[in-house]
Amino acid sequence: MRRNGIVLAIDGPAGAGKSTTAQLVAKALDYLYLDTGAMYRTVGLAVVRAGANADDADAVVALAKSVAIDQKAGGDGVHTFLDGEDISLMIRTPKVSDAASRVAVHQGVRDVLVATQQAIGRDGGIVLEGRDTGTAIFPDAELKVFLVADVAERAHRRKLEMAARGERADVALLERQIRERDERDRQTQLRFGPWPSEDAVLVDTTGMSIDVQVAKVVALAQVKIQAES
Ligand code: DC
Repeated sequence: MRRNGIVLAIDGPAGAGKSTTAQLVAKALDYLYLDTGAMYRTVGLAVVRAGANADDADAVVALAKSVAIDQKAGGDGVHTFLDGEDISLMIRTPKVSDAASRVAVHQGVRDVLVATQQAIGRDGGIVLEGRDTGTAIFPDAELKVFLVADVAERAHRRKLEMAARGERADVALLERQIRERDERDRQTQLRFGPWPSEDAVLVDTTGMSIDVQVAKVVALAQVKIQAES
């Protein structure tokens, strides 16, 4: 057993319910929560702000190495910081989502972020959420969950998230963006090995309420925690 508990790796495509589920599971277990996607998004924002080309590996890796990325829990969820500035809302725009997906293809960027993520989670007692948390970051995670949901439902969830921030969204456009990003993300992950991890538990959240998703993952985690103690 690691010092603080198990490592719980939650992966899956955009909009499958990872963020909400992972945060609530972390709360239920009193574990740390790490949003690895927010770290790629932060590098994406840094690239957009610098006016750099997200496809230029050297420029993007240099930026990834030069910025400080932090996450802190707040009353209204986890906040992400770029060089001390709270950029939690700015990293959720379609432009930054696209840049994040582009910067994530560069091996040098992944190396920098994966090393940081491993250092944060090494002692366990953590829920990590992203694409490679059960493959590249913690291939030895005690529990790996892979969340999926159909594209129409994922686009609808994104629309609701955006509406909650006062933004309008066109569901057909969101679906197209999700499909494009899915394909790029899938190709990125498949370059590094089987994806999802062969030992991940697949959970299809289509039509499932958040409460049910959370209860399901917490139950899986409790079995592992008991087995480890
Ligand atoms: O989960 P998200 O939508 O916030 O992720 C943003 C982008 O970062 C997405 O295009 C996939 C990429 N990503 C990644 O390559 N590896 C991770 N561990 C997390 C996210």
